[in-house]
Amino acid sequence: MSLEVSQKITIEKTKNSKINKVDFNHLPFGQVYTDHMLICDYEDGKWHAPKIVPYQPISLDPSAKIFHYGQSIFEGMKAYKDESDNIWLFRPLENQKRLNISAKRLAIPELPEAYFMDGLEALLKLEKDWIPTTRDSSLYIRPFVFASGNGFHASPSDKYKFIVACSPSGPYFGGKVKVLIEQHYSRSANGGVGFAKAGGNYAGQFYPTNLAIQKGYQQVIWTDDTTHEYIEEAGAMNIFIRINDTLITAPTSDRILDGITRKSVIEIAKDMGIALEIRNISVLEVIEASRNGSLKEMFGAGTAAVISPIAGFGYKEKDYDLPELEDTYAAMLKKQITDIQYNRSEDKFGWRYQVK
Ligand SMILES: Cc1ncc(COP(=O)(O)O)c(C=O)c1O
Repeated sequence: MSLEVSQKITIEKTKNSKINKVDFNHLPFGQVYTDHMLICDYEDGKWHAPKIVPYQPISLDPSAKIFHYGQSIFEGMKAYKDESDNIWLFRPLENQKRLNISAKRLAIPELPEAYFMDGLEALLKLEKDWIPTTRDSSLYIRPFVFASGNGFHASPSDKYKFIVACSPSGPYFGGKVKVLIEQHYSRSANGGVGFAKAGGNYAGQFYPTNLAIQKGYQQVIWTDDTTHEYIEEAGAMNIFIRINDTLITAPTSDRILDGITRKSVIEIAKDMGIALEIRNISVLEVIEASRNGSLKEMFGAGTAAVISPIAGFGYKEKDYDLPELEDTYAAMLKKQITDIQYNRSEDKFGWRYQVK
């Protein structure tokens, strides 16, 4: 971190805090925003000093390139408060690095680490009273970068904005989800942008997901774009499948986001002595496992939902149910991760990062 940069962060505080209007016991996910945001401009070939300003709308020209060419990337992270009011982040440098991996792919200028980390820490210190303390709640953090330069010309923008906004949030999903294994649409392709956290990846998912919702599912499970035979990831989560006592997840690729929760689940599972395979897994293998009773669990893993158990899946007009188990890997792994995140347990991996 560079002190030089943090010294340059200017702070304009709000005169009208909204915090007393918020019901912290009934928080939705991602719909309430804190009093301030961090904003940092890229102009004249460089990133300028970050500013913290009251949370407010952004004014853009109709020709701004974000509207036309979709140069937009983002991250999703959380800040947690422990019982002594300490503020914690979970592997924040992984988000910083991934933002720049996404930036490079979308021809967006990379953001120096200190702008991200110093900016984030200054914002969190100011917004610390917004970090909820009710169980499973946290401050969801949304860092994003988009093309703010103008012109109806299909070329990279010369101006960008990096913004960090925060949202005190409750749990992401209410309960177990039913998913549809996709047979036609693709989320990403070889050589594409699937590994980047690019806004357009999500836009492309909405229509097929709506079709799945109309059929009674909550999420789509994406398969490989070439054959649609291999299971890749969920809408905003990586996916794990437990056959007998072995946990299986697809390897990351051009098409899959390298999730921080996925990485953490892999390390925790190994540490707990759970057999783990990182390999391609076909839909047919999962169906066969469902038929012969060896399919024990499927769950999504991602920052928002942490671990999201799957109750059943649909494939080619047929539904398959997952068994209801007492002691699930999903529950065990979720406990391990969240205990680290909320500073309820020792962190032997060194993932917790204190903001002070
Ligand atoms: C497409 C996709 N896959 C996986 C993930 C999980 O990534 P992480 O664990 O870093 O949140 C996300 C969420 O960020 C996502 O949007």
